[in-house]
Amino acid sequence: MKNLLTVREARAADISAIHDLLKYYAERQIVLPRSRDDIRYYLNNFVVGEIESRICGCCAVRDFDRDLLEVRSLAVDPKLHGRGVGCALVEAIVAGQRLKRNSFRLFALTYQKEFFFKQGFVLVNKEMFPEKIWSDCENCPKKDCCDEDAVLYVWPSDKN
Ligand SMILES: CC(C)(COP(=O)(O)OP(=O)(O)OC[C@H]1O[C@@H](n2cnc3c(N)ncnc32)[C@H](O)[C@@H]1OP(=O)(O)O)[C@@H](O)C(=O)NCCC(=O)NCCS
Repeated sequence: MKNLLTVREARAADISAIHDLLKYYAERQIVLPRSRDDIRYYLNNFVVGEIESRICGCCAVRDFDRDLLEVRSLAVDPKLHGRGVGCALVEAIVAGQRLKRNSFRLFALTYQKEFFFKQGFVLVNKEMFPEKIWSDCENCPKKDCCDEDAVLYVWPSDKN
């Protein structure tokens, strides 16, 4: 499976597939919904996973300035969980930012902290990211009862 997987920058032809993947999880309140127009506007922030010309996952990065970034809109086709697609998408985001920057902090708010631990993220306090809370969280239905965990990847880390 991994040999057949390609991770690449998203292009306009991927918008519908990205939209449908995110809609599936947004309906289950696992990721925030994104309209097709929003995906098109921020398309440069997305990478997609492709297997045999079919989009099987997507992931975006959001830039909050001062080298603070967020992994968002991470979604893998539910039929393909556990086969390395999510890992490859996050790796592509991290690798892209390492090429662009000398240092960065990359966070996520997630129900999948164990997945992120495997990618080198650590658990942190979500109050560390007021930028996120001021923007997306303000309109979130779970605003006052947020049960997501905050995870953070720092580059370079002490270990690197
Ligand atoms: C979270 C998600 C992206 C993971 O994608 P995936 O393709 O299934 O993950 P991978 O196969 O790349 O897993 C990488 C590693 O994480 C582990 N892992 C994946 N999901 C896990 C979970 N929920 N709990 C514990 N470990 C997990 C895998 O076992 C694998 O471990 P290994 O390297 O030891 O084999 C996918 O489950 C998904 O789309 N979930 C719904 C949307 C979502 O929650 N997005 C995140 C929002 S921030």
